[in-house]
Amino acid sequence: MDLKGKTCVVTGATSGIGEATARNLASRGATLGLVCRDLAKGERTVECIRAQTPEAPLRLFRADLESQADIRRVAGELAEAYPQIHLLVNNAGIVNLSYSETVDGIETTFAVNHLAYFLLTNLLLDRLRGSAPARIVNVASDAHKFVRGMNFDDLGHKQKYASMRVYGHSKLANILFTRELARRLDASGVTVNAVHPGAVATGLAGNNGAWAKAVMKVVGLFFKSPDKGAATSLFVATSPEIEGLSGRYFANCKERTPGAAARDDVAAARLWAISEELTGLATTSASAGS
Ligand SMILES: NC(=O)c1ccc[n+]([C@@H]2O[C@H](COP(=O)([O-])OP(=O)(O)OC[C@H]3O[C@@H](n4cnc5c(N)ncnc54)[C@H](OP(=O)(O)O)[C@@H]3O)[C@@H](O)[C@H]2O)c1
Repeated sequence: MDLKGKTCVVTGATSGIGEATARNLASRGATLGLVCRDLAKGERTVECIRAQTPEAPLRLFRADLESQADIRRVAGELAEAYPQIHLLVNNAGIVNLSYSETVDGIETTFAVNHLAYFLLTNLLLDRLRGSAPARIVNVASDAHKFVRGMNFDDLGHKQKYASMRVYGHSKLANILFTRELARRLDASGVTVNAVHPGAVATGLAGNNGAWAKAVMKVVGLFFKSPDKGAATSLFVATSPEIEGLSGRYFANCKERTPGAAARDDVAAARLWAISEELTGLATTSASAGS
């Protein structure tokens, strides 16, 4: 699909799957807004994209997705820079081997992997609706099957911290968010789908010290390349074949049925309400409505 005239926003484009996604979108003519927390790394991504697509219209936007204030600021900057946004790829993600909290006092994996998707998307919804047909892609994972359901009694993982369970819950949250958002966006011309990229050799988990980095390098020898890992995100972002499909889960460029916990619409609605509270969106919508 030729993406000339289409504006695409990608988070986590300084590495791995996000970088490969951005490179491909740029090669098809898209105007790109790249959200990154480290501008030096962002500049390297820009150089890498420009080496392949010299005229690529792209711009870096700095935001640490651990910080809700940063997310609000960058959403404002994106909305100001782009009168239309046709594609939002929520891709930035982390695996944290030990417990930490964000500046907002929220467990970091849940904050970056789920709440950042939730908040940035909601803040850009007017732009996406106004640009319909538009698409949202949430990069989730089959790791959602590591857990049996959302840990509503301990969303902050304060009672027990087991990193892969924490990651699994955050990726389950991506799919539940996708389902509830799809329901809310019905007939709006904006679709939202979740993807599993497969096992991909990237920088994921590399933030946990030299030992974790070395292990991931070795394990990565058996994984697919970032370009192959980006294929499903790109398929869901651009393929005319799935025009109009929403609330679905894709892997290997095909629709898949996610685990039972990811099909729980009651949990999806509950997670939405909690996410609104945790991001302050509940207050914003209430005051906008009054
Ligand atoms: N790799 C896999 O096998 C695999 C499998 C299933 C799902 N996924 C999902 O794929 C997505 C991309 O991961 P990846 O494998 O490509 O990992 P990666 O190479 O580590 O890339 C992660 C990206 O997220 C960014 N990021 C992390 N925390 C951030 C923050 N607080 N603020 C702003 N940006 C932040 C990173 O920025 P920096 O460069 O500044 O760190 C980087 O650009 C994630 O959602 C992950 O859960 C990956």
